[in-house]
Amino acid sequence: MTSAAPVVIVLAAGEGKRMRSATPKVLHRIAGRSLVGHVIEAAAAIEPAHLMVVVGHGRDEVVAHLDEVAPWVDTVVQDDQRGTGHAVRLAVEALAEAGALSDGPIIVLSGDTPLLTGATVSDLLSRHVADDAAATLLSADLDDPDGYGRVVRNADGWVDRIVEHRDADEATRAIHEINAGMYAFHPADLLPALGLLTTANDQGEEYLTDVVGLMRESGRPVAALRVPDSDEILGVNDRVQLSEAAALMRDRINRRWMRDGVSMLDPSSTWIDVDVDLAADVTLLPQTSLLGPTSVASGARIGPGTTLSACEVGADAEVRHTWADLAVIGSGAAVGPFSYLRPGTRIGDRAKVGAYVEMKNSSLGDGAKVPHLSYVGDAEIGEGTNIGAATIFVNYDGVEKHATVVGRYVRIGSDTMLVAPVTVGDGAYTAAGSVITDDVPPGAMAVGRAPQRTIPGWVARRRADSDSARAAAEALAQSPAPGEEENR
Ligand code: UD1
Ligand code: MG
Repeated sequence: MTSAAPVVIVLAAGEGKRMRSATPKVLHRIAGRSLVGHVIEAAAAIEPAHLMVVVGHGRDEVVAHLDEVAPWVDTVVQDDQRGTGHAVRLAVEALAEAGALSDGPIIVLSGDTPLLTGATVSDLLSRHVADDAAATLLSADLDDPDGYGRVVRNADGWVDRIVEHRDADEATRAIHEINAGMYAFHPADLLPALGLLTTANDQGEEYLTDVVGLMRESGRPVAALRVPDSDEILGVNDRVQLSEAAALMRDRINRRWMRDGVSMLDPSSTWIDVDVDLAADVTLLPQTSLLGPTSVASGARIGPGTTLSACEVGADAEVRHTWADLAVIGSGAAVGPFSYLRPGTRIGDRAKVGAYVEMKNSSLGDGAKVPHLSYVGDAEIGEGTNIGAATIFVNYDGVEKHATVVGRYVRIGSDTMLVAPVTVGDGAYTAAGSVITDDVPPGAMAVGRAPQRTIPGWVARRRADSDSARAAAEALAQSPAPGEEENR
C-alpha cells in the first residue's frame, strides 16, 4: 500500500481537430469554466502534491489560461503528439526532474472530460490504494462502445489488457465495457512499462493503454472501476459533444440549486455558471443566465429573459428582462423590464430602474428612481430622488467623460439634459425639458429652456385647406382661442 500523496497528470496536448476552432479544444468553456479547468477542479478533490498538464497544440494560450485559473499547476510541452503513452512518459520525466515523484499514486486524466467529478477521482484513488494494484482504470458500460478502447477482463475479474477499437477483432469489439482514459498507477509499475511501449499499432503511436498488458505479463494485477454514471467520462471532441456536455452540466448544477431551495420555472432554459452563489427562496424565471461570480440573496426573483454577469443581487429584489454586467442591485430593488446595467452600476435598496434605462459607472441611492427611457453615466444620485422620463446624463464632451452629482430627494423633470460636470443640490427641482449646464443649489428650481412662443392662426394662414386647418377651424368655431379674433 502506498501512503504518499498522489500526483496528477492531465493530458491536453491534442489539437481537437473536430472542434474546427481557432481556440484550443481544452479552452472551450461550459458553465463558465474551461474544459481543462473542470478536470483540474475534479483532480483538486484528492489534493495532489503536484499536477502536471501536458500541453502541445495552442500551448501558449493553454499555459496563459492555466497561469490565470490554476497557478498551482505545472506544464510540460509535448511538441509532437506521439500518443498517450508518450505524453505520460514526458510528464513523468518532468515530475521526476522537479523532484515531484514519490511512491504515491500517479493519476492520469484527460483534459477534455469536463463532467468528471471529484468524488469519482477520489473513488478511483481509494480503490487503487485498497487493491494495491499496478494500475486501476475507470471503465464504463456503453450501449455504443464504438471508437473506445475495450476492457478485456480475466476469469478472475482483473483486467488482462485494453484493445483499441481500431486494433480490435470482432469478438473484442462485442465487449461493451470501455476504457474511460482515466487511470491510477503505482509508479514502480508504471515507469518500467512506459519504457517498453512500442508504436506497433494501427496509428503508429505509443499507447498508454499498452502498459496494462505489460503489467499483467510481469504478474502484477490491474483493476477496473466502473463509473456508475457514464456521463462523467463523456469526452468533448466536437461542438455537438460540447453542447451535450454543457446541457448535462447545466442539469447537474440546476438540480443542486433546486435541492438547495431555488425555484426554477424552466430549468432547461436556465444557465448557471459554476461560480454562482444562490440563497434559498430565490426564484429564477425562464431564459435566465447567471454568469461568472454572480450572487443572489434570498427572495429575489430573476427573469424572465435576464442575463447577469458578475452581479450581486440583494434580498427580495426583482430583475426582469435585463442585461447586467458587474452591477450591484440592492435589497428590494426593481430593475427592468428592458434595463441595461453596465459595469460599476450600484442600485440602492428599494430603488427602481425601469424600462429602457441604461446605466454605467453610477450609483442610485436607496429608494431613488429612474423609471423610464434614460441614460445614466458617471453619476451619483442621492436617496429618494426621482429622475423624470427620458432624462439624459450628458457625460461625454467628445473627448472626456465627466461626473454628475444629484443630491437627495431631488426631482429631475422629464427630458432634462444634465450636462456634466454638474451638481444638483439636495431637494432641488429641474423643469421638464431643461438643459442644465450650471450647478443647482439645494432647494432651487432650475429652468433651462427657451420660453414658449405661440403664433395664433398660423395653420389657417400657412396650411390652408389642410385637415389640420379644418380641424382647427371647427374647434375655434366652438370656442375661439384667446387672441384669435384680433389675428384674423
Ligand atoms: C484513448 C484511449 C482509449 C480510451 C479513450 C477514452 C489510448 C491509446 N486510448 O483513446 O482506450 O477508450 O481514450 O476517451 O490511450 N493526448 C496527448 N498527447 C498525445 C495523444 C493524446 O496529450 O500524443 C491527449 C489528447 O489531447 C486527449 C487524450 O490524450 O486529451 C486522449 O487522447 P486521444 O487521442 O483522444 O485518445 P483516444 O483515441 O480517444
Ligand atoms: Mg479521445
